[in-house]
Amino acid sequence: MNFLSIREMERPEIAKLLRSAASLKKDSLSGKKLPAFPDKTVGLLFFEDSTRTRVGFEMAARRLGIGFTSFGVKGSSMSKGESLKDTVLTLKNEGVDGLVIRHEAAGAPNVAARFFDGPVINAGDGMHEHPTQALADATTILEHRKKLDGLVVSIVGDVMHSRVARSNIWLLSKMGATVRLVAPRTLMPPYKELIPAEFHYSLKTGLDGADVVMTLRMQMERMENGLISSLGEYASMYQVNSGTLRYAKPDALVMHPGPVNRGLELDDLTVDGKQSVINEQVENGVYVRMAIFNAVFASKAKKKS
Ligand code: NCD
Repeated sequence: MNFLSIREMERPEIAKLLRSAASLKKDSLSGKKLPAFPDKTVGLLFFEDSTRTRVGFEMAARRLGIGFTSFGVKGSSMSKGESLKDTVLTLKNEGVDGLVIRHEAAGAPNVAARFFDGPVINAGDGMHEHPTQALADATTILEHRKKLDGLVVSIVGDVMHSRVARSNIWLLSKMGATVRLVAPRTLMPPYKELIPAEFHYSLKTGLDGADVVMTLRMQMERMENGLISSLGEYASMYQVNSGTLRYAKPDALVMHPGPVNRGLELDDLTVDGKQSVINEQVENGVYVRMAIFNAVFASKAKKKS
């Protein structure tokens, strides 16, 4: 079993993973016995920079007794020109049981899955998907709201370049939430008719009555010149701050997948404010990654017996 994208999942599968993450969290916090996979080792392949996702997977592996080996291009033979395929084949022949991959190219984890026998987990591929982030976000929302069904979630910012937005659009819409995308035209994704979301170009109408305000990082490293006239102008029109947050419901949750550019997507007061659940998103990232490891390794164990 691989875990490559939310788009290809059905609502019951997503709901099951969310339930599993919640119960692993409960069991971890109450000191109950957790599932353990001491005979498993995963390769954590981070070909793009990462703090919370990489550490999230490492902590999840540690808590379930899974061994791991972590590396990126710099520390591996990929810096000598070795291809992704040959890297994956090397790890397979060395007996690694599963792969977690972050890569700048959309579809890289799918390519890896063609050459690897065990489970492959997508930790963010280019502008495509970041499925574990969407699960962490949904888990966080569900801790504050009974269900996702019927909520209005406004996703604000650089939607075009954001894999976090893509996974969240699929997850939230499949679970019955209304998704609004709020951005300047140049940062909206193309092929609108294929995206299950509303498009808003003004922050005021985009946030109007929203239950959740999910802000996104400006992905400067993926941006061509000329998409926005200046960061200052972007902030003046789209920053979520104590003034603009008033457009949303008074108790709206404020989210951001991190890393935050303080003063750009959000002002300091809002990042650290009462409505912010940003630290909870990070914490829940560990539990959803435990749920994924548990799902991929437990299903394999069952098949063998
Ligand atoms: C995101 C990513 O790398 O896609 N970060 C994360 O994993 N929490 C978002 C981002 O970098 O903007």
